[in-house]
Amino acid sequence: MTATAPILELHDVTVAYGRRPVLWNVDLAITEPCLFGVIGPNGAGKSTLLKAALGLVPVVGGYVRFFGAPLARVRGRVGYVPQRETVDWDFPVSVMDVVLMGTYGRLGWLRRPGARERELARHCLDRVGLVGLADRQIGRLSGGQQQRVFLARALAQQADVYLLDEPLAGVDVRSQEQIFEVLAAVRDEGKLVVVVHHDLRTAAEWFDRVALIDMRLVATGPTAEVLTPDNLRRTYSGRVELLEELGRAVAERGRTP
Ligand SMILES: Nc1ncnc2c1ncn2[C@@H]1O[C@H](COP(=O)(O)OP(=O)(O)OP(=O)(O)O)[C@@H](O)[C@H]1O
Ligand SMILES: [Mg+2]
Repeated sequence: MTATAPILELHDVTVAYGRRPVLWNVDLAITEPCLFGVIGPNGAGKSTLLKAALGLVPVVGGYVRFFGAPLARVRGRVGYVPQRETVDWDFPVSVMDVVLMGTYGRLGWLRRPGARERELARHCLDRVGLVGLADRQIGRLSGGQQQRVFLARALAQQADVYLLDEPLAGVDVRSQEQIFEVLAAVRDEGKLVVVVHHDLRTAAEWFDRVALIDMRLVATGPTAEVLTPDNLRRTYSGRVELLEELGRAVAERGRTP
């Protein structure tokens, strides 16, 4: 591990499911803490990219490093919020229980979370605006509220890098704003926040840097330099109605100071 190593580096990463490659030769190095968007159409490989970074799917070529080290050496510093699953949360687990799970990594095996962990969990719930629901059974929340609980669980992990897969899906516009504010605050604490995201309008507004993905890395860099009509066309090729919408989003971004 060296002082100059990128926070997250994917070097020539190729991922295949069975014999079908879904990500080709992705080279990506994020050297500074920032709010980083991963953007691309459905099936582009965005979730796969996060999973490959986390070692949840094997890479068939290339390698991934966090702080210059393989994930196994820095696992506790990396938090993950998976894409929302359609799970029925029937079991009797409270919102507080779920957020406390974020603290387990630091606690080690046999210690149970105590007052300090509960305080931290409450603080994280407060950050996502759900402290009032701490005792609610997790299944009795809306989809958007569940998303915020998982974000709170990741925050409770006190990681240095967060990988979030569509944390804003199914979240209403006002809550989206609130969550972006939380993510920006986490960035301002000097952490790297990588977010898979669908909506280009909010992407242009919130992300410092982005990567456009369509099975390959189309472009990456500062948001304003990457979200150009040309790059978007290359990423969303063939999706005509989407292109019109993107054109409008980009034009609007051009009008905002
Ligand atoms: N476990 C799997 N086994 C086989 N193929 C998979 C698996 N998971 C994903 N794929 C395929 O790999 C490709 C990339 O999927 P991925 O989930 O990474 O896309 P995505 O960009 O996250 O899409 P979305 O925006 O819909 O979430 C898709 O064609 C998908 O069908
Ligand atoms: Mg996905």
